[in-house]
Amino acid sequence: MPDLIERSADILARATSAVALTGAGISVESGIPPFRGKGGLWEKMDPMKVAHIDAFLEDPEGVWNLLIKDMKTVLDKARPNSGHTVLADLERLGILKTVITQNVDGLHQMAGNSDVIEFHGNFAWQRCLDCNRSIETSRVDLAQIPPRCRCGGILRPDCVFFGEMIPHEALIRSQKLSAACDVMLVIGTSAMVQPAATMPFIAKDNGAVIIEINPEPTPLTSRISNLPLLGNACSIMPRLAAAIRQRMPLPDNR
Ligand code: APR
Repeated sequence: MPDLIERSADILARATSAVALTGAGISVESGIPPFRGKGGLWEKMDPMKVAHIDAFLEDPEGVWNLLIKDMKTVLDKARPNSGHTVLADLERLGILKTVITQNVDGLHQMAGNSDVIEFHGNFAWQRCLDCNRSIETSRVDLAQIPPRCRCGGILRPDCVFFGEMIPHEALIRSQKLSAACDVMLVIGTSAMVQPAATMPFIAKDNGAVIIEINPEPTPLTSRISNLPLLGNACSIMPRLAAAIRQRMPLPDNR
């Protein structure tokens, strides 16, 4: 493994337009469970029954009680881990341009990344089904389930449910940046959900080096990952960052 980290650091130290694609795995060590694999939410409940827009519209109270209330409890407590903070460091070093995240936890912004594409929206906001007004999740009163807007309409998370379109701007920018990047860091995603899982293929087809960080192999690993770093983000990312810093010119101390 050390060799793969050294080789990844060689490439990242020279990168100027790297893009990261992150999934639930990068937030696991912040206390947020993943969806698939060990401890995954979808091992306990059927996503089509709790995370599909039709299921929500049919039974908003049920989906709030089964999924959204617990999500709020977990996300309220979550803070960035070293996987998130290393990506913010890579932006400061001029290596990483953008994070494309499938996560709705806002931890990349909290860690300091300034360009984050939220492919599946953000749980920090709720939206009224009737008048479309937005309200911060932190201000929603959960004494009443489902919570309602002052107009009486039911509130829903400003996240993308299964069965809904990816926000157009997020999709187009992600495709463009994936096609233009010199390196794609793919961290903590099972690469099972489209169209997010297409981004590494777009990057690869346009000549990018794919560095994948995940304790488990994914459909990308044997097909397109040039440097598969098998392990947890919080174990690998700090070692990768240290190896990159050894290769970066010291800041001008004049
Ligand atoms: N560090 C890095 N990766 C990890 C860690 C960790 N500590 N722990 C788990 N993983 C990996 C798992 O091996 C798995 O490959 O993270 C991945 C998590 O996969 P998913 O739970 O499927 O998450 P994700 O790929 O983001 O799911 C995509 O599916 O249900 C929808 O909307 C949901 O955005 C989500 C989308």
